[in-house]
Amino acid sequence: MFSKTNINKFQELDTPFYYYDMEVLRATLDACRDASAKHGFHVHYAMKANFNPKVLDMIQSFGFGADCVSGNEVKAAIEHGFDKGKVVFAGVGKSDREINFALDADIFCFNVESVQELNIIDGLAAAKGKKANVAIRINPNVDAHTHHFITTGLDENKFGINIWQLPDVATALRQCNNLQFLGIHFHIGSQITDLEVYKSLCTRINEMQDWFEDHGFPVKVLNTGGGLGVDYHNPDGNIADFEGYFQVFKSFLNVKPGQEVHFELGRALVAQSASLVSRVLYVKNGQKKNFLILDAGMTELIRPMLYQAYHQIENLSQTSEADTKYDVVGPICESTDCFQKDVDLPQSFRGDLIAVRTAGAYGEVMVSGYNLRDRVGSVYSE
Ligand code: LLP
Repeated sequence: MFSKTNINKFQELDTPFYYYDMEVLRATLDACRDASAKHGFHVHYAMKANFNPKVLDMIQSFGFGADCVSGNEVKAAIEHGFDKGKVVFAGVGKSDREINFALDADIFCFNVESVQELNIIDGLAAAKGKKANVAIRINPNVDAHTHHFITTGLDENKFGINIWQLPDVATALRQCNNLQFLGIHFHIGSQITDLEVYKSLCTRINEMQDWFEDHGFPVKVLNTGGGLGVDYHNPDGNIADFEGYFQVFKSFLNVKPGQEVHFELGRALVAQSASLVSRVLYVKNGQKKNFLILDAGMTELIRPMLYQAYHQIENLSQTSEADTKYDVVGPICESTDCFQKDVDLPQSFRGDLIAVRTAGAYGEVMVSGYNLRDRVGSVYSE
């Protein structure tokens, strides 16, 4: 992925920056589109994973819909040409302003996360003389077997409506004249690599759609959410297992005639297409530890510090054997500002270029201005 030409080009650039390999992005999107089209499944890109304008433009050009979690994401999706008939608005705390904006934009559907929210959307839609499409986000209490901080589908999580509250949902839906019930929505967590987990989700979706149909609400859309994980240990050419993922739903989801199956993939579409490239500012050799101090830190990529997430680290400037252990750290005034401890690398020097790989998802979008840092740059392959 990092050819000599790339590295020569990088030498002249200010660091740190996110380097986007548009070929990898294209190949990933191709693989996802082919695998989903085989079964007639619809994919909405979960924009929160990366809303870099060039990334959005390319994803839009593949015909995917957009899964948004704020009014600004809805706005960006529409500005980048996503078909508003394929824009969904999810999120546990939608403000009135955001709901009004989405109503005015005539988006496809609101994924609703509480009974109270149903009533609010109904009132705001009534004031505009509109009918809003809604899907009910159900918390299925299915364990995603992923990091505790990115699990969303358990009773203890704030997301979605718990199964025991469904009778209240049915009552509200009957009373709300300005809502059109479309279907049911689920999302159990992120970076899921054990596809077995999705079988349990399918079982729960099948039960839940029966419940709604039995109570007089035809289910047109089954939205299974996202969460498909990627292999952070093999950054090159290892596209997520879209075939295997969609096959689980094909085999285990009870899809009735006329129903649409929707997916909201974020990470699996964008993670492998970017790396964070930075320079070594200082090398500190201690008695117990060697430190590589980079010009990028938790303000540019917070995943390792927030979730103990693994990202492969490479020295692009040295080709010798990896014979030295370094704690690779950032410049921020926090002890947790460490990308990884005891990384095996070639002996490294001030000015070396370091790549933190598989950083295309939840990387650039989670950048912060802490310590009044400069905004990280973006560089694209041809
Ligand atoms: N749908 C809903 C309702 C979601 O909350 C999410 C992600 C997705 C879809 C997309 O999930 P994905 O396919 O990307 O796994 N910042 C964390 C991940 C947070 C995920 C939030 N929700 C990280 O860096 O690992």
